[in-house]
Amino acid sequence: MAQKELENLGRRHILLGVTGSIAAYKAALLCRLLVTAGAEVKVVMTPLAKQFITPLTMATLSKNPILVDFFNPENGEWNSHVKLGVWADCMLIAPATANTLAKMVSGIADNLLLTSYLSARCPVVVAPAMDLDMYAHPATQQNLATLLKRGVHVAEPGEGELASGLSGKGRMAEPEEIARFVDDLLSEKKKSLEGKHFVVTAGATIEPIDPVRFISNHSSGKMGYALATELARRGARVSLVSGRTALECPRGVDRIDVLSAEEMYRAAVEAFATADGAIMCAAVADYTPKQVADRKLKKGDGELNIELKRTRDIAAELGAHKNGRLLVGFALETHDEELHAEAKLQKKNFDFIVLNSLRDAGAGFRGDTNKVSLIDRTGREDLPLMTKSEVAGRIIDKLETFL
Ligand code: C5P
Repeated sequence: MAQKELENLGRRHILLGVTGSIAAYKAALLCRLLVTAGAEVKVVMTPLAKQFITPLTMATLSKNPILVDFFNPENGEWNSHVKLGVWADCMLIAPATANTLAKMVSGIADNLLLTSYLSARCPVVVAPAMDLDMYAHPATQQNLATLLKRGVHVAEPGEGELASGLSGKGRMAEPEEIARFVDDLLSEKKKSLEGKHFVVTAGATIEPIDPVRFISNHSSGKMGYALATELARRGARVSLVSGRTALECPRGVDRIDVLSAEEMYRAAVEAFATADGAIMCAAVADYTPKQVADRKLKKGDGELNIELKRTRDIAAELGAHKNGRLLVGFALETHDEELHAEAKLQKKNFDFIVLNSLRDAGAGFRGDTNKVSLIDRTGREDLPLMTKSEVAGRIIDKLETFL
């Protein structure tokens, strides 16, 4: 990893907390990255963490003695958690076990790491590491949500092979990612979208035919979720009006679950009332059954016709009441893409439109990549194939130029 990427760690005081997880071996590398980037690192370990990585390793890498006990048993010298809490510019707990996260939530103070956490006045980052079922457990998820609400930052774990032999989400984020996360956090730069509120619509709507069947489409919601994630990362408040999707709500984002186009319309209009702008990424049904049967339709011998009526165009409605706010739309076309996209730009009063064509390999539904063009009133920019989160970054970059 190029060290110049870590620009904000020079002479910063990082209190690195290590807890008892197999991922503790990665704390050694993390410590080294922080020290190499110029940070002064002190390491506080839980008693169990010593079983996973030796204090000698951590002391050598951090260039400071390791802190584990409340006092030095040899001479009675107090290891002051209060002083550590005041000393630190950032407390980073990596790995953070389910146990430590739970104790942080409850304010339990039975080791030096926890008393230091309770005394810390600085930003706190946790990098969870645990088995996939422990991570997914409602107790852990609720604890993480509580910590987040209290302002603790979470370096999300990744998916992959776990020490248990199982595979899933719970693997501690890689040391390079965590170091970058802390570097970003300590950057003096104000987040570019702080104080702004955006609505994002995402996913597919569901139009019921009867209590069992519905009309929907292939949208996975990935692009809209990537946009919500990026907006939140840049400090915006995000209302994510989400149709059906299998995706987890991005942290720090307020998700409003809806099913039908009509429900999405109401939720989007309500959220837009207090917003600075909206990105219309949802694949909204254009037609919905005129009648919804209250009992399951029985099959007969002949054909069945379902009469459909038009749904409301959410984007056009927000566009009509825009009042100088920002509106970004999407267009997915199979032919005459540019012509249709430009017509939509006018009709729905978008500031710009993101055009994805189903013709391009790697673009469109379900996948993790997308190839789009950004079209505004002055012209068109064709972007190469990239991941949906990179595309989201480019879209938000463009959005910021309109603010
Ligand atoms: O007209 P078309 O459906 O192709 O327009 C696509 C754009 O309009 C997308 O931004 C989509 O989210 C939005 N849209 C909407 N409500 C509808 C239909 C489309 O917000 N009922």
